Formats: sequence, structure tokens, C-alpha cells
Amino acid sequence: MPDLLLLCHILSASVLFASGLVTALVLVLTVYDGNIPLIARASDRVVRADWILTLPSGITQFITGLWLAWRMDALTAGWVALSVLLYGLAGLCWLPVVRYQIRMAGLARQAAAQNGTLPSEFMRLYRKWFLLGWPAFIALIIVFWLMAARPIL
Ligand code: HEM
Repeated sequence: MPDLLLLCHILSASVLFASGLVTALVLVLTVYDGNIPLIARASDRVVRADWILTLPSGITQFITGLWLAWRMDALTAGWVALSVLLYGLAGLCWLPVVRYQIRMAGLARQAAAQNGTLPSEFMRLYRKWFLLGWPAFIALIIVFWLMAARPIL
């Protein structure tokens, strides 16, 4: 019988990590190309992917993680505490990122409808969005390592 809880935890980790990486890559490449109607569509899809994939997998990840820690009597272990802390940091970076994405999608839609150029506000938000992605990405990589190595802290 497979360990369904651990399977859920690992699957949600994969979905969370992949959705973050792929949506970021799609938006970066589309903005780099500079095709405004495409940027409008891509930013809209990125927002949707966040609701459909990132949010549910993020919640599943946290709940299954705490459940697993409770099950193995490790809720107070250092590696679990550090994981929760880093996970919280990634979440704190993600919240403004969602807000920026929604605003960027609106600005790009407007620019596409008017056959205009992207306003400077779009690029300002894009730079902040890009910068905030890094600490979240690095935090998740460290959590992956903590999960596998379970160091005594
Ligand atoms: C947010 C708090 C988290 C907690 C409390 C937590 C807790 C745990 C626990 C207790 C285990 C061991 C389960 C067992 O062997 O029975 C585990 C395994 C694992 N976790 Fe987490 N986790 C969290 C977040 C994450 C995140 C964010 C990721 C990756 C993005 C992740 C990826 C993994 C992986 C890949 C394993 C399997 C490791 C292995 O068996 O070698 N976890 N987690």
C-alpha cells in the first residue's frame, strides 16, 4: 500500500515548484519578445495558473507537510521549523507577486486594445515581480534540501 500522504506531499511539491518555474519562464520570454497582445494573453494565463495550480498545491503542501511532521513526531524538529519559516518567506514573496501579475495583465490588455505600447508602470511592476521570484525560488530549493537531508539543527 503506497503512503498516500507522502505521495500527496511530494506531488504537490512538484506541482508547486513546476508551476512557479513555468509561469515565470512564460512571462519572462513573452515580455522579452515584446508582442503586446501576446503579453496580455500570457499574463492573464499566468494569473489563472496561479489560482488553479500554485494556490491549491501550496495549501496541500503545507497541510500534508505539517501532518507528516506530526505523524513522525517531528513538529518541533529544527529542520521542520526552518522549512516552515522558509515556506512562509516564499509565501510572503508570492502574495505581492499575484497582485502585480493581476495589475500587469490589466495594463497589457489595455495597451493591446489601444494598439499602444506598454506603460512604464508595467515594466516597473515586472521588475519587482522578477526580483521577488528569486527569494521564493531559493527558499523552496533550500526546503527541498531540508526535506531530503533532515539535518539536526
Ligand atoms: C511547509 C512545511 C513543510 C513541512 C512541515 C514538511 C514536512 C515534511 C516531512 C515531515 C517529510 C517526511 C515525511 C516522511 O518521511 O514520512 C517531508 C518530506 C518531503 N517534503 Fe516536505 N514539508 C514541508 C514543505 C515542503 C516543501 C515546500 C517542499 C518542496 C517544495 C517539500 C518537499 C518534500 C519532499 C520532496 C519530501 C520527500 C523527501 C524524502 O522522502 O526523502 N516539503 N516533508
